[in-house]
Amino acid sequence: MRTHYCGELRKEHIGETVTFYGWVDRRRDHGGVIFLDLRDRSGIVQIVSDPQRTPDSYEQANALRNEYVVEITGRVTQRPEESLNPRLPTGEIEVYADRIQLLNAVRKQLPFQVSITDSETVREDLRLKYRYLDLRRERMAQNLQLRHQIVKAMRRYLEDLEGFIEVETPILTRSTPEGARDYILPSRVNPGEWFALPQSPQLFKQLLMVSGLDRYYQIARCFRDEDLRADRQPEFTQLDMEMSFMSQEEIIELNEKLVCHIFKTVKGIELQRPFPRLTYAEGMERYGSDKPDTRYGLELVNVSDIVKDSNFKVFRDTVINGGVVKILPIPNGNDVISNVRIKPGGDLFKEASEAGAKGLAYIRVRDDGEIDTIGAIKDNLSAEQKQEILRRTDAKAGHLLLFGAGDAATVNKTLDRLRQVIAKEFSLIDPEKINLLWITDFPMFEWNAGEKRLEALHHPFTAPHPEDLSDLKTARAQAYDLVLNGVEVGGGSLRIYQREIQQQVFDAIGLSPEEAQNKFGFLLEAFEYGTPPHGGIAYGLDRLVMLLAGEESIRDVIAFPKTQQARCLLTDAPSGVDVKQLKELHVASTYKPKS
Ligand code: AMO
Repeated sequence: MRTHYCGELRKEHIGETVTFYGWVDRRRDHGGVIFLDLRDRSGIVQIVSDPQRTPDSYEQANALRNEYVVEITGRVTQRPEESLNPRLPTGEIEVYADRIQLLNAVRKQLPFQVSITDSETVREDLRLKYRYLDLRRERMAQNLQLRHQIVKAMRRYLEDLEGFIEVETPILTRSTPEGARDYILPSRVNPGEWFALPQSPQLFKQLLMVSGLDRYYQIARCFRDEDLRADRQPEFTQLDMEMSFMSQEEIIELNEKLVCHIFKTVKGIELQRPFPRLTYAEGMERYGSDKPDTRYGLELVNVSDIVKDSNFKVFRDTVINGGVVKILPIPNGNDVISNVRIKPGGDLFKEASEAGAKGLAYIRVRDDGEIDTIGAIKDNLSAEQKQEILRRTDAKAGHLLLFGAGDAATVNKTLDRLRQVIAKEFSLIDPEKINLLWITDFPMFEWNAGEKRLEALHHPFTAPHPEDLSDLKTARAQAYDLVLNGVEVGGGSLRIYQREIQQQVFDAIGLSPEEAQNKFGFLLEAFEYGTPPHGGIAYGLDRLVMLLAGEESIRDVIAFPKTQQARCLLTDAPSGVDVKQLKELHVASTYKPKS
């Protein structure tokens, strides 16, 4: 019978006889004395066996190899002074093994060394193929445990303190309007018809409000067929919530308390409330982003009004044609950022052009206060215009000013990207900081240039700002995102519950009544039967865990994630299926493998 987990043993257990199970992390032979590091999900403890003090276990200990599974009974002992290990929570003690029982050996060559000291260099594809071994590692085991703690804190807060009820919503369903591609599944019993996997439980949670559930939450799996990045997976998990009869302020307040509870419970960190807020417009203006990392400055400065009357044609025409000219001021940028890096072929130029910029103009403030510019700026901005730019950007000796000129979206995207690169390079990010930020007042719609129509920025059930109803096309939405250190961790909105407004929104995005009926008829009908005012939010659980675990990718906090190519290397999915199976589903593949 187990008395302890390996990682639990401390000084207070000295003298006790304990029994535990685990895997051999490492085995070392020190001139006849065998040292074993034994690992389970809680951590590592050092086991000692030698022919004099523990003759009954010595032979077994000698035969053990890495990753063998054993049961050990022994006495907890103080480590000698010279072998204390302050890096290990169990580092003050060791266990003299009276009895070792081998429960299972390793029968194949291990694909990589599981033991933590070697593991950081293991290739990710190997880690994913042998994920069950990768998850034995302390870092990964801790990430999964942290994930569990976070979900537990969410449940405790929402259920016990706020009266939320968890309801499961279907996985086999219709397309939901979150804007990514759907994963679809053919129906065998309904030939020619398809289910879609939910991109979120959005429609069902709104229906639950019509049902009078009042406060719903779910730890919900969502599926989106979109391009993958470090913070995006094709299947991911949301903490999904919906509430009736609450204003935006009340929803935000409840959510701040929830987030504070999570940080306090799992990290012991007291966050300050209320969290800062920025409107979408402010975020775009000051940071070029709707999810700015506010742990550092480097704020953008708009100089459109200064350059619009200049002789510099590129800047002047940009502003006349409705575009903007903005600057990213970089203190001490001159020392580190050479012209080569800003000009075609340079790394910063590449960053800018990947965001759609055609070039990067600049001004440098030399140590003597004089300024250097690229040719066109030098000759075409007046002395007053240059002085005004320096004043507005608060530029001092050593400053480098990088210009973005063009349509607002491209300029913001370019300078946002450069801002992040520079912050990393100049080590401006304090990793200890936790900057939570609400972004509010999103626009209702954005222009889809490809399809030449307005598109709902969030989803078409988001309620417009009551003050903006007269011109819906430019209206702000009652929508809010929560940003943590530059990552969008959550987003939600108040919903439309009045039929007339819903119709106006469908009109604005060019959705005919027939199309609306076809797509969301069931929801629109439900809204006819007495719908309460309601709103909600969903958090990206994987992203939240990633940030709290200090990881760079959500793959490291998901037990069995997909690769960037949306494959599961462990099970080798997706895979081909039998023609017979396809036939039953009334499906034929049009895919022709390249020969
Ligand atoms: P949204 O689409 O903003 O809103 O999603 C909510 C949160 O889910 C996370 N997220 C993702 N995480 C990992 N991989 C992905 N592919 C991925 N896509 C999104 C983000 C995001 O903030 N139904 C609405 C919520 C609502 O209005 O209540 C929704 O799904 O952290």
